[in-house]
Amino acid sequence: MMRLEEMGAACLPVIDIGVLTHRIGADRSLVIDEIRKACKGLGCFKIINHGISSSVTEGALEVASDFFKLSKEEKAEYASEDIHLPVRYGASMKPRDFIKQYAHPLGEWSKFWPSSPDYRQKMGKYAMEVRRVTLQLMDAILESLGLGEGYMADKFEEGMQVMTVNNYEKPSPEPDSTLGMAAHTDYGCLTILLQSSEGLQIVDNSIGAWRAVPELPGALHVHIGDYLEVLSNGQYRSVVHRVVLDAQRRMSIASIHSLSMDEMVTPAKELVDEQHPKGYRGSNFRDVLRYITNNDFTNGGSFINSLRILAP
Ligand code: OGA
Ligand code: NI
Repeated sequence: MMRLEEMGAACLPVIDIGVLTHRIGADRSLVIDEIRKACKGLGCFKIINHGISSSVTEGALEVASDFFKLSKEEKAEYASEDIHLPVRYGASMKPRDFIKQYAHPLGEWSKFWPSSPDYRQKMGKYAMEVRRVTLQLMDAILESLGLGEGYMADKFEEGMQVMTVNNYEKPSPEPDSTLGMAAHTDYGCLTILLQSSEGLQIVDNSIGAWRAVPELPGALHVHIGDYLEVLSNGQYRSVVHRVVLDAQRRMSIASIHSLSMDEMVTPAKELVDEQHPKGYRGSNFRDVLRYITNNDFTNGGSFINSLRILAP
């Protein structure tokens, strides 16, 4: 990827989604308008009034922290390079180590999660709540594309939820900021990010520069992933993001939501016409996994680019 300059903090829309989550507050159509504007703009926004209490978010970060404090040997029990596993711990990407875990349906996957009952209970609670909010938000996003309330709701109901729990520890003598995670886009439709402190940066395409995502206590950060770009036939673009560390220690939980493993994602037929020809080939999550297995990202390859249908 091209080297871009850093331009200070982004001014992100903060959207009150109370009307989506518990039918209170602003008119639904006004919220849909705000969502459309945010998705067409930076492709990300913050949500407040999402209905997930701070005890739930703090509980999830707390059990995550406890997990990363375990000894190397204990964590290594979950370690694998096999990206097809539903739960795996990775520590080869210093200064980050992480646990990736499938989260829906919870009853099917949480038995493979780190074995502490507290971890399963508190992380599970957050997983379920963030999924509920995502389904409500996804419905509104599809509506903002003119696809009608409830569009593909059953497919999203059966969809995948993959959570990446990230732990960043800066090498201590290092005075300057350090890259915690390299530039990338997320594969799913929507990512909801919970962070313990600032560090996330996004590319602002309007000026071609990196911008820091400011922290707003209690808010969750939402960004568009590759599969929403495909579904919207390019009307909404997936957000390029990375992590830059100033803090000595930082944690985040990225919850990625998509369709089920074998469900094909293609541009919605309602959004394809003569003026807007189909811009992407169909694929599913299995193709994502295959792509990651077979490709080296250091040469700038990206899954979404591999799906683009170029104009003749
Ligand atoms: C990710 C991600 C950002 C963060 O896990 O895909 O982009 O803040 N995480 O850790
Ligand atoms: Ni990401």
